[in-house]
Order: sequence, then structure tokens, then C-alpha cells
Amino acid sequence: MTFLKKMAVTVAIAASILTTTAAQAKDFRIGLITPPNHIWTLTAQEFGKELEEKSSGKHKLAVFPAQQLGNEAQMMQQLQTGALDMGFLTLAEISNRVPEFGAFYAPFLVDNIDQAAKLLKSEEATKLLGELPAKAGVVGVGYAMAGMRQVLSRSAVKGPEDIKGKKIRITPFEPIKDFYNEIGAAPTPLPLPAVYDALANGQVDALDMDFDSILVLKFYERADNLMISNHMMFPMIGVVSGKVWAQLSDEDKQLIQTLMKAHLDKVIEKFAAQEKDQEKQLRDLKLTVTEADRAVFNDVVSKWEAMWKEKSKGALDTLKQAAEKAKAQ
Ligand code: BEZ
Repeated sequence: MTFLKKMAVTVAIAASILTTTAAQAKDFRIGLITPPNHIWTLTAQEFGKELEEKSSGKHKLAVFPAQQLGNEAQMMQQLQTGALDMGFLTLAEISNRVPEFGAFYAPFLVDNIDQAAKLLKSEEATKLLGELPAKAGVVGVGYAMAGMRQVLSRSAVKGPEDIKGKKIRITPFEPIKDFYNEIGAAPTPLPLPAVYDALANGQVDALDMDFDSILVLKFYERADNLMISNHMMFPMIGVVSGKVWAQLSDEDKQLIQTLMKAHLDKVIEKFAAQEKDQEKQLRDLKLTVTEADRAVFNDVVSKWEAMWKEKSKGALDTLKQAAEKAKAQ
């Protein structure tokens, strides 16, 4: 080969390497329903920053909070087509599509947030993520969570009897709707960003909510009775579009998987660490606080479990076993 030919081949190889690298560089987008000051959103920003650093500036992540890209059902559709790259989503919308995930919402599956944290890190929970590419068109990188669910209401509530007939705001998904239907309440599905106004204008009498959201979104300004029941855990899931994932190099998959998972774990730790302090903050706000334990919900729990044993296709039994292990740890 002549010198000139050799040079031409070398230049062509170099150009092809550069093109490949450039093609892999990506400006990712992640969607969330939580407001800009919520831990999930702040974590998405931290994850983006680290992704940019660790990829030496090759990848960037634009964060779209507060339903800017649509509600979770709409974001799931975008994830399935590849129009959206990533999401930090409540498990609620996933459970509407893959009912196995509804088992995480079994009432009183765990007793407290520490057990919820252990359950979400369990082998059983991790194994369920394997269902997602085929059934939902997304890759489940890992779980995080918000706080345990409580009831904030305009009038005092001590247990299921007092919730009967009340319009209670729920996150839009089946397992929680079944829970409040069994109680005899009128569950009213509303996404998180719509809740404050609905409470202010009397569209709902009560909220199914966690301590953190009650404080961060100031729901206590509009309802001053809090029933602490810890009746449900509230998982979040970090997902990547299956279509986008398929186009990533192994190296990028590894980077995203590792970084996103580490940030999701931090969310779990933050919620577990702040739960007691947030309970104190709410008590200090002079709300009327009552406490309700599993015993007053026994009837409702049995009916819910009978329904979801079948609906969740065996996942309820699996997660109940995992929850027992979490309680024993
Ligand atoms: C809710 O729908 O209640 C909710 C959603 C995301 C984070 C926290 C709460």
C-alpha cells in the first residue's frame, strides 16, 4: 500500500471511530410527576449531574418534573415508543399495566418504612423487575420510595368507619381503589399536582398521602386531621425506555444502571431517615393526630388480599414471604 493510501485508510478509521462515539453521545430526558423541590426530582437532577461527569460530558440529562411531559400513563406511552428516555415513576402506573406489581400495595404488607426499605431491596422484589421489558416495554433499573401512606382529612378520622362515605383522594391506580372501595369510601383518583386545589375547593374530604408530601406541598394548610396508619408502602421505580436501552452500548448500559441504582438507593435511605422527624414536624403543627393499627382494618385487609391473590398472579404470596423475612431481619 502506498503512503497516501495508508494515510487515507487511517483517516477513514479515525473518522469512523469519531462518528461512532458521536452517535452514542446522548441528551437524555427523564420525566416525573413530582414537583421541582421533591426528593425524587432533586435525585433525578443529581443522577443527571453524575451521568454527565462520569461520561466525561458525553451524556446529559434534562429533568422534566411536575407532569411537564404528561401524567404517568402518558409518560409510559412515550417510554414505550422511545419518545421519552427515562422515568422516575410511582409503581402505581406500572401496576395498572403489569398487575404483579399491585402486590406491593397490599395493605399492611410491612409495618413500617424500614421494613419497606428492606422489602424493596429483596431478591423477590428485584426478580419482579425482569417482567417489565416484555410486559411494559421498559427496563426497570431499581426501586425507590416515598413515605408510608396515611390519611389527612378535614374532619377527625380514627379508622375505616370514619372514612366510610368520604371522598378520599387516591393516586390513580387499582390496588388503592380496591382498598378504599372495600372500606366503603368514595375513592377519587387525582394526580399529585392536582391535589392541593382539590382539597382547597372541597372536591375531596380527605387524602391518602405520605408525611413528606403533606409537608412539602403544604396540604396541612387545608386539612388539619391526620390519621397515622402506615397502611401501605409507596414504591417508586426508575425505568429506561426499552427501545432506547436496546440502542445503548454495553458500557453505557452499565454506567446508567450503576448510577441510577445508586441514586434510587439514596432516595430509600433519605425517606427512611426522615420519617420520624417528619412525623414530629406534623405533630408540632398542632394537627389533630390519631393512630390506627392493622387490627381495625383486618376485615378490609382480608377482602383485599382475597381479590389480589388472583389479580397479582402469585406475586402477593411471594412478596408476603419477602415481607416476613424483612420483619425478621
Ligand atoms: C401521590 O400520588 O400521592 C404521590 C406521588 C409521588 C410521590 C409522592 C406521592
